[in-house]
Amino acid sequence: MEKIKMAIIGAGVWGETHISIYAEHPYAQVVAVCDRDLLRAEAAATKWGIAQVYSDYKEMLEQCGCDAVAIVTPDFAHADIAVACAEAKKDMLIEKPLATTAKDIERIVEAVEKNGVRCMVDHHCRWAPNYNKTKQLIDSGEIGEPYTAYIRHSDIKWVATDMLSWSAQSSIMWFLGSHSVDTLRWLLGSEVKKVYATKRKGILKELGVDTDDIYLSTLEFENGCIAHMENGWCSPNGGPSLNDMWASVLCTNGLVRMDFTNHNLMTLSTDTRYSTPDIFVGNKVFDRCNGLSYESIRDFVDRLVDGKEFRVTLTDAANTAYAVLAILESAELGMPVEVKYHSEK
Ligand SMILES: NC(=O)c1ccc[n+]([C@@H]2O[C@H](COP(=O)([O-])OP(=O)(O)OC[C@H]3O[C@@H](n4cnc5c(N)ncnc54)[C@H](O)[C@@H]3O)[C@@H](O)[C@H]2O)c1
Repeated sequence: MEKIKMAIIGAGVWGETHISIYAEHPYAQVVAVCDRDLLRAEAAATKWGIAQVYSDYKEMLEQCGCDAVAIVTPDFAHADIAVACAEAKKDMLIEKPLATTAKDIERIVEAVEKNGVRCMVDHHCRWAPNYNKTKQLIDSGEIGEPYTAYIRHSDIKWVATDMLSWSAQSSIMWFLGSHSVDTLRWLLGSEVKKVYATKRKGILKELGVDTDDIYLSTLEFENGCIAHMENGWCSPNGGPSLNDMWASVLCTNGLVRMDFTNHNLMTLSTDTRYSTPDIFVGNKVFDRCNGLSYESIRDFVDRLVDGKEFRVTLTDAANTAYAVLAILESAELGMPVEVKYHSEK
């Protein structure tokens, strides 16, 4: 079978993660890389042996002969590129979130449907072993019906102050909150109906990054489930790992608790820090990528190969983004907000 020819747009931190997965996948190869910072694209091409290098994604789409594209640009810079990919008849994996405005969500959905291309968004928590096992338990009926849930996806401050150059142009609600909403929609098996959110700002602003620190949100679902969500970019840098991830799902006949951060499988002490090494999200075993953030990208290629439906549909990604928009609006207004726009399943 011929390999799927992948092109990458955005050769930053996460773009390189994408390249590493396609490079080791038996049915994929990276034929082109594009970054508006040409030096960055060239550095990635040299490191990974990629033949074609571009700084203009439109030129790349016309010339490179790829089958599919990975869009790995900052949160707010997905829509124009996604629409151009759809018009060029390329399948695509878009990094989460799908888009950050209602107009951009609609533009992408329309372009994908009109051009008959396939599109997945990288909501990778579905590949986390503990979330996935919880979903299996719920689907088996063993623990009854989902009733309530709590989820915390937060990062240490360093992610907003140092790792991302564009955090002030995004929000913790897009960067991690979109993962939380997608996970809850999936586990609870329902769409978000109404949200009430509050937020605080100040810690990051003081550090020179003008973005909100933390959101506490209550979500009501169409099937009656209720959930609490906590998403912050202001956990102390000395925390046990980069991500602070904790969740629970109460069902009518069982309770599941998940602690990714203090999982007790491994700890590391040095003279300056006690930490929990990441063995869930972005781990490597020998030279192979192994972790939930790699599995979703690998699965995108697998689904292109076998033709089956993506495990995260475009409707999933659109409805997740609409719920995040409602959370941002609720925190701004200080009152509950109905999630207004729902794509049909
Ligand atoms: N799934 C995950 O766990 C995960 C982790 C980190 C980041 N992400 C997502 O990946 C995306 C990228 O994040 P990152 O950390 O790699 O950011 P980054 O800043 O390291 O890289 C983004 C790159 O995109 C390039 N770029 C911007 N606009 C462009 C354009 N129009 N054409 C070509 N290149 C362009 C920039 O020059 C930069 O090199 C974001 O949406 C982020 O939320 C996902």
